[in-house]
Amino acid sequence: MCGIFGCICENAVEVLLDGLRRLEYRGYDSVGIALLNNNNILIRKDKGKLEDFLKNLDFESLSGSIGIGHTRWATHGAPSRENAHPHLDCFGRIAVVHNGVLENFLSLREELIERGHKFSSNTDSEIIAHLIEEFVKMGLSLKDALRETINIVKGSIACAIITTLEPGKIFCYRRESPLIVGISRNGTFCSSDMPAIIPYTKNIAIVPEDTIVVIERNGVYSESSSGIERKLEFFETNLDLKSAERGGYPHFMIKEIFEQPRAISDTIKIPEVYLDRASKLLRDRIYLTGSGTSYHACLSTSYMISKILSIEAFPIISSELQEMIPNFDESTLIAVSQSGETADTLNAIRYAKKKNAKIVGITNTLGSSITMLSDAYICTQSGPEIGVAATKTFVTQLIALDLLFLRFGLISRRLNQSDYNKILDEMKKLPKIVEKILNQHQKIKEISLKYSSKQNAFFLARGSNVAIALEGALKLKEISYIHAEGYPAGESKHGPIALVEPGFLCIFIAPKDRTREKIIGNIMEMKARGAEIFSIITEGDEELKEISDSYFEVPQCYELFYPILCTIPLQLFAYYAATFRGFDPDKPRNLAKSVTVI
Ligand code: AGP
Repeated sequence: MCGIFGCICENAVEVLLDGLRRLEYRGYDSVGIALLNNNNILIRKDKGKLEDFLKNLDFESLSGSIGIGHTRWATHGAPSRENAHPHLDCFGRIAVVHNGVLENFLSLREELIERGHKFSSNTDSEIIAHLIEEFVKMGLSLKDALRETINIVKGSIACAIITTLEPGKIFCYRRESPLIVGISRNGTFCSSDMPAIIPYTKNIAIVPEDTIVVIERNGVYSESSSGIERKLEFFETNLDLKSAERGGYPHFMIKEIFEQPRAISDTIKIPEVYLDRASKLLRDRIYLTGSGTSYHACLSTSYMISKILSIEAFPIISSELQEMIPNFDESTLIAVSQSGETADTLNAIRYAKKKNAKIVGITNTLGSSITMLSDAYICTQSGPEIGVAATKTFVTQLIALDLLFLRFGLISRRLNQSDYNKILDEMKKLPKIVEKILNQHQKIKEISLKYSSKQNAFFLARGSNVAIALEGALKLKEISYIHAEGYPAGESKHGPIALVEPGFLCIFIAPKDRTREKIIGNIMEMKARGAEIFSIITEGDEELKEISDSYFEVPQCYELFYPILCTIPLQLFAYYAATFRGFDPDKPRNLAKSVTVI
């Protein structure tokens, strides 16, 4: 789980550091760069964040026009200077940065050590440099040595390599980890993601699976791992840099929360052809899978499917899927992942595919692994999400899933045209309603301040809002480190209530939908034990205002869409709680944006 970046251009040092800053959301426990200079490789790397790295960097001693860089999230080997990338071969002639996990590295490492190789780190990635060194020793070119290496190494790889043996080139390879190439008159670039490249060029190509790319100053050559030329498809991205940067907000997370009206509106516009292609793959049995927030989108949607279409759908946490479902005959797996790179979700897909499932992917990342593994996919239109906490991608997942199942309902005649049109019309009102909620951020900020010193919180709800209770709790705990648990409100009396004592914070998701009456009963149970009650309610619900210590009102809407509306104040609540407690919500400890380990 890392970001890699490479460039051939003037001021490579500056460009590399700038690129790594934009990739830090992929991991930030170590950072490093390698430059080709007078046919030497200069390496600077260290444990810690980029800003600390910059403070100690001896800029005067660094120059070059070809370089590679890395921002790391540790998988093999704890964060340390030694384990930071780039890694070198024994002679310091080959430098490698890598994003991915190499499954058979231990046995390969032992073999290499027996042959006399000296390793400087505990990482899996370092074996790439030593294996290439071995093949070069046998007389192969760097490209051929790389091909031999990737054919031996098992696991996910996106790597970039510079070498004194063939200066003037960056060698790359992609398997299961993302890689993008960009080219302009000012230089050529490779990166794990777009934000690092788009300040320099909008002319980019997504490197297909299992492809070797050789980058030079004026061009790019690429081929499959079996050596057959494979031309990259370059296109002009319409992403501007502004959309990938903070846009004036103090953190990416709050910027992304405020982008939700636009993200929802764009996602509603997903062309019907994509929805139709995906709905045609829906079979009698439907499973939905995802991890973390994406799982919550699956859970919420499964209620919607049963309510609107009267069919069952089964939400399953990706990492548990293999243990639960023995076969997928006559089944469709809908896999949800904003990054499209979450290892648990990709594994679930691979397993289900082997067991005959049809796969529909829902992702925010075109060209990600999930789009390649799925029989059909739908891309949410959030734009890049940099904050580690998923916000806008969650609500667009809910929209995309609603659209898919409404379309399926129409095609399968479970929903008539007039109901379909009515629900779509209601959906189109959401961007404006969400904007209205965001305009009240000051109110939620005050509530968050009031509760930001709490140590614990329960998030309680019923029906499809249970997923929102889980999501509210996840958001709060992951960025503010307040211990928070989400439960179905009816379940709370079967154990969790034992924790409730005077002042214990209970947050209820209690809009005016079919769950409201029962939720009032659950609120009273907690109140009777002295809990502090904060409720998310529908505008003008006087009864709920009366029984709550604090409340936030969301506008009335079509019942199906309350989960989306109730999510927004909970995202803001978590964001402000984190900032009041002095934490950086964009970089929660121990987490990274896309989790590519199992
Ligand atoms: C969300 O706030 C989390 N950081 C995390 O749970 C995330 O949703 C999960 O890792 C899944 O990511 P994905 O959507 O990219 O697959």
